[in-house]
Amino acid sequence: MATDARDDTQPEDSAGSKAAILQIIGNVLVARSLAIVAELGLADLVQTEPQSVTQLAHATGTHADSLYRLLRMLASYGVFAEDDGGLFHPTPMSLLLETDRPDSLRDLLTLGWQDIAWDTYRQLPHTIRTGETAFDAAFGATFFDYLAGHPEANASFDSAMALFSGPENGMIAAAYDFGQFARIVDVGGGTGGLMAAILSAHQGVRGVLFDQPQVVANMTGIEASAIRERCEPIGGDFFESVPAAADAYIMKRILHDWDDEAAIRLLLRCREAMNTDARVLVIDAVMQAGNAPDPNKFMDVSIMALTRGRERSETEFQRLFTEAGLRCTEVFPTELPSTLSIIEGVRA
Ligand SMILES: C[S@@+](CC[C@H](N)C(=O)[O-])C[C@H]1O[C@@H](n2cnc3c(N)ncnc32)[C@H](O)[C@@H]1O
Repeated sequence: MATDARDDTQPEDSAGSKAAILQIIGNVLVARSLAIVAELGLADLVQTEPQSVTQLAHATGTHADSLYRLLRMLASYGVFAEDDGGLFHPTPMSLLLETDRPDSLRDLLTLGWQDIAWDTYRQLPHTIRTGETAFDAAFGATFFDYLAGHPEANASFDSAMALFSGPENGMIAAAYDFGQFARIVDVGGGTGGLMAAILSAHQGVRGVLFDQPQVVANMTGIEASAIRERCEPIGGDFFESVPAAADAYIMKRILHDWDDEAAIRLLLRCREAMNTDARVLVIDAVMQAGNAPDPNKFMDVSIMALTRGRERSETEFQRLFTEAGLRCTEVFPTELPSTLSIIEGVRA
């Protein structure tokens, strides 16, 4: 029997559908406007006292009428609220754009990395037509090769990645018994946020933060010295080899950067390096069938534009494991705000 592809997330009537489409078209402007507001630091300016647009324009050196129209639109999305006297107040959403908060998203929006993303997305039609990576068409190099040659962009990406990963690291550390291991390697561990969450939770664990040399040179994710002394940074190329003789090899948001052939090579490098009964722990989105809204579907398209990677289903992960001489043993979901799962594997 044919299944009904419609679901109750779709508007019933054509007027509702039209409004929904116009909303999607407008989202590009909303996203860009949010980045401008973050860049200007407007959330900090209204922090202590509501401000008129004249005050805000004066403080930021911007054009008052243009700024007003931008803020009026954003306020309709809940970013700032304008009162009857024309003063702009903070809202729960604008608070997240303030600078000095542990959960601030400001840097994620202001970093030069945002411009890289915009230039990449302009080339998305090229990806859809040819299957080739939009980033490569925009920048003439693959994503990680480009970053390696552009230190500012690389630092910006590492910070954005750390900010993006921050809220999910604690959820991942809580979703699996990392305390059973003596030595863990975080393969492509970035600036160390996940390793810090694991080492804080388990005093008996020692970690290796393995990433490209220019990335591990900057272990900003591991600030506490008590944790730092249990974490060894090692720089290298994970397609050549990964540090040997550990009990667990973590790869968070790593396999999703690569096509199947490269992902299998990476798993093989881990298999060669690991202790006999060690675990491989791939931490990635596990794609589900169906039309439900899912942030992992956005990430999948973003990854498609940036790299040769993809988000994968459980069956697809099992196939990669098998090809690399590994066996998938269990999949551990994590709790929101993390949308990732821990896919555990052992030698086959
Ligand atoms: C998407 S980020 C994930 C970082 C971190 N695991 C996280 O979830 O926040 C991918 C990481 O892979 C690293 N990477 C890319 N190519 C690499 C290579 N050939 N060798 C080692 N690390 C590499 C990047 O430097 C980056 O830190």
